[in-house]
Amino acid sequence: MKTYKRVSTIKKYLASHRRKKQTIGFIPTMGALHEGHVSLAKASIEENDITVVSVFVNPTQFNQTEDLKKYPRNLEKDAAILKEAGVDYLFAPSVNQVYPLSKKTGPKLDIDHLTFSMEGPNRPGHFEGVVQVVHRLVKITNPDLIYMGQKDFQQFTIIQYMLTHLKMRTRLRVCPIIREENGLAMSSRNQRLSKKIKTEASIIYNNLVAAKKALKSKKPDAIERKAMKDLKTGVFDPEYFEIVDGYTFKKITNPNRHKLIVACTAVWAKKVRLIDNMILKGEHLLYPKKKK
Ligand code: PAF
Repeated sequence: MKTYKRVSTIKKYLASHRRKKQTIGFIPTMGALHEGHVSLAKASIEENDITVVSVFVNPTQFNQTEDLKKYPRNLEKDAAILKEAGVDYLFAPSVNQVYPLSKKTGPKLDIDHLTFSMEGPNRPGHFEGVVQVVHRLVKITNPDLIYMGQKDFQQFTIIQYMLTHLKMRTRLRVCPIIREENGLAMSSRNQRLSKKIKTEASIIYNNLVAAKKALKSKKPDAIERKAMKDLKTGVFDPEYFEIVDGYTFKKITNPNRHKLIVACTAVWAKKVRLIDNMILKGEHLLYPKKKK
């Protein structure tokens, strides 16, 4: 595996692969890699000739400076994980490489219709920052496929919208959530949880499973209210638990009228904010399919 920090260098190497008609899969990350990221890399390796992973803690998507400061960083460890997984290139640029002074803004893209709920109002400016950085990284790496995890449901939906709306050639694949044995969704933020809280955090998964079962017999808003109550334990404090249409993020009243239904939640575990979701009905169209 080769590691590059400069935009011009990674562009040069990837262009040489493209000239040989090799396909490129790309996984954008902010590092602190775990099995969830490895599953994305493996999906790309299976489906493409060349796999590139970026590790870049993007300052424009953090709405709290404290969160940005505390974000775990360990490039050496990340590089070892990616090498072991069989990744070809690690792109680890500095802030100046991704945001040179001459290029400040993101693409012109109105995402209000996808950010009006859940993560949107709770993290103002977050998705604008995500769009800005993923747009830049896709322009730099110009991949055939980009891989993202289902855990960030709103994020991948917005990136899919960006790719379609801006008529970019890159296609998106979404890979399933990878969970700890107790059901906790893997996340870089889990590193900040105590052992006890990590064990108790199964409460989030359990509530999602309960919501899936309950959707057959109970009204969505009653399920949401119960989950909000159950998740408020003193240690855990839910920000939202919403059952929405998986494409529009609008609240649902009658499940029969929707093909894809997802329950999304954000829960504070002391000072750590955890997000998770579960598809309650239907199947998403963006899961990996093709083999090399
Ligand atoms: O999901 C993440 O880790 C980040 O939001 C992403 C997509 C790498 C953009 O910085």
